[in-house]
Amino acid sequence: KNSTPVSGLPLAFHGTVIHSKSLDELEILEKCFLLVGIDGKIQVLQADVEADQINSIVSENGYAPDIFPVKHLERGEFLCPGFVDTHNHAPQWAQRGVGRGISLLDWLDKVTFAHETKFEDPEYAKRMYGSCVAGFLQQGITTASYYGSHHGQATRILADVCFEKGQRALVGKCNMNRNAPDWYRDASVLDSLQETREFINHVQQLDPKYHLVKPILTPRFAISCEPELLDGLGVIAREHPDLPIQTHFNEAKQEIEFTHQLFPEFATEADLYQRYGLLNDRSILAHCIFLQEDEISRIQELGCGVAHCPISNTTMQEFMVAPVREYLRRGIKVGLGTDSGGGYSSSILEVMKQAFIVSNAQQMLTQGRDPALSLREGFFLATLGGAQVCGLDDRIGNFAVGKEFDALEVHTMDLRQPGVMSPVEDEDSIPVIFEKFLMTGDDRNIVRVYVSGRSVKV
Ligand code: GUN
Ligand code: FE
Repeated sequence: KNSTPVSGLPLAFHGTVIHSKSLDELEILEKCFLLVGIDGKIQVLQADVEADQINSIVSENGYAPDIFPVKHLERGEFLCPGFVDTHNHAPQWAQRGVGRGISLLDWLDKVTFAHETKFEDPEYAKRMYGSCVAGFLQQGITTASYYGSHHGQATRILADVCFEKGQRALVGKCNMNRNAPDWYRDASVLDSLQETREFINHVQQLDPKYHLVKPILTPRFAISCEPELLDGLGVIAREHPDLPIQTHFNEAKQEIEFTHQLFPEFATEADLYQRYGLLNDRSILAHCIFLQEDEISRIQELGCGVAHCPISNTTMQEFMVAPVREYLRRGIKVGLGTDSGGGYSSSILEVMKQAFIVSNAQQMLTQGRDPALSLREGFFLATLGGAQVCGLDDRIGNFAVGKEFDALEVHTMDLRQPGVMSPVEDEDSIPVIFEKFLMTGDDRNIVRVYVSGRSVKV
């Protein structure tokens, strides 16, 4: 297994570097010298450096000059942080695009469970997860928060694949022991909890410091878990105060009503998950569309993160708009999720564009009270916002010195592939080139992908 983060030599770049410092602050550094140490961490980030000054900066940082190449980024080329996908179902990789236009619960029953059950076969899991992780790396997703299938073995394979291919990932064995066919659910509460504990141990052995891969508790949603199962997961969450938790939260009216029938003692989903010890500052709540006012203040107080999945929210059956501006106004953490395969796309650039579209809808629906997302806000959600949601913003999300180098090398001027993106013209400023990339570029413009300094795009 190859866990070596870097080649043994530092990495160095000179050129344009673009990253978010906060929701409101996009920083564009020109003639920037960026040095990544052999530990995969950013050691120098310095703008306005002339080529003839580089050797002295290198020596000041303890390296002999000229022992490693400096990659010079030309006009139209830049570095930006890797994308963070805060909500992704790895076993739905081969199911994207199938079953659009039906309700969530029908889609689970008619399409999804029949597909996810194939991961009982470890050979199938190896093949499909290899393709899935490579596919998301190809799209510049350097960190993903994955739901596995309910199978312990397949989910261990998923963790292994992320580790081997070098993708940063939260990986969860999906807990589900009811309201699913008997051929696709956990056999019992004990079984489900036991598999979860074994999975956590497996990842601890694979990656003891959770450098790349970390386990995440993954109750699919309350509908698929008996109260005793949620209780047991709450116990594990208390025992492991470093483990994140993910679930689907207030995603669809039909789902909220069914949850209420199953748990009439709770007024809201926030009440429910909080009672089971699953709502805290480690929680990643997918969708968050129909929250009541007191649920919004609760997730704000508790410090939960929101995985905004505008593609699946608008293509399943209804056009559902999450009030993202309100979450941001209250300082709630928000990131973007492909929700692959409920969402048809594996690209965060596509998700970001759909986030712009639904934010325009929300601006209309609220008569302007919730202004649409700006370009820089969308990019923040795709990078630093997602890192915050995953509890990783002390390590990734932008190029602050000391963080790990999870990055994309973007080339926008290669016209050998016509039709890739809106052509860059001589008069275009860097902000315009960046905007063209975000709005019309795709993975063909992402020529290299780094995780912790290791080049991971094949
Ligand atoms: N709710 C429960 N399971 C799922 C799933 O697989 N996808 C989505 N979008 N919602 C869910
Ligand atoms: Fe989902």
